[in-house]
Amino acid sequence: MKVFSGSSNKPLAQKIAKELKVALSPLEIHIFPDGEKRIRVFERIVDEHCVVVQPTSTPADQNYMELFFIVDALKRSGAKAVTAVIPYLGYQRQDHIFRDGEAVSLEVVIRTLEAVGMDKLILFDLHSIKIPELFHIPVSHLSALPLFAEKIKKNAWTNSDTVLVSPDMGGVRRVKQLCEMLSGMPYASIVKNRNLATGKLTAERVEGRLKKRALIVDDMISSGGTIITAANLLLKNGVSEIYVFATHPVFSDAAPQALQKSAAQKVFVTDTIEVPKEKQFPKLEILSVAEMVAGELRTV
Ligand code: R5P
Repeated sequence: MKVFSGSSNKPLAQKIAKELKVALSPLEIHIFPDGEKRIRVFERIVDEHCVVVQPTSTPADQNYMELFFIVDALKRSGAKAVTAVIPYLGYQRQDHIFRDGEAVSLEVVIRTLEAVGMDKLILFDLHSIKIPELFHIPVSHLSALPLFAEKIKKNAWTNSDTVLVSPDMGGVRRVKQLCEMLSGMPYASIVKNRNLATGKLTAERVEGRLKKRALIVDDMISSGGTIITAANLLLKNGVSEIYVFATHPVFSDAAPQALQKSAAQKVFVTDTIEVPKEKQFPKLEILSVAEMVAGELRTV
């Protein structure tokens, strides 16, 4: 097996390769003055199973194009099969038409991923569990929840003083799964509203019983608005300790600063997306999904 990396998360690719006890295979990613990229494979890969690690996080369009070209280069160079590890799948939130006249961006992305010749995909904590069904190639949908469960157990947060909280009704399934991994830790959910035209969020009320400690669980943090609104509502409702667990640190705009200032004591995320040094903040702790990805690749 040969492991290649695009440019969006090389540290994760290196960790995955290390877990698999192989060196990361070199790739030339040349950027022309106009921004176009030329991809070139150096090694002989005829009849090899090749793996490409490339989350399609910001800048999603560029990262997707790079991934398409890498897969094309591998296929043309004789790879037997190509597995793409896309720990964060860009455009996954535009998976249906929310308002008349919109594009279904995710469907366009899926069609292109398939057309370029990928054989298998490894994805993480998708926004909707229905997304894998939209593909016509095998998809392994992994989750960071076991990593979060481990962290929660290590902190000895108990079912009598802690409640899991979904910051919106759409995340209840995720919180229920984590509850099962933690011997039935209680859970609650916030009823949130987002104005699709302005993006403005309102956390309306909490459904379920709260405790002194709340662990907010979400798939991603982008602007931080969902988490911060949820944390403020929990504080108002008497919760005194708040921790956040979110798989994907999208961290748009000033999210890191806002999260640092928020009511949360700590924000746990994973390395599905690389968080550059300038976006890291004291309350942040990054857990790695490398071992899980390597485990999955060993079964391919
Ligand atoms: C929404 O349904 C998602 O699960 C996340 O809660 C949301 O995408 C986070 O975005 P933001 O950080 O901008 O509120």
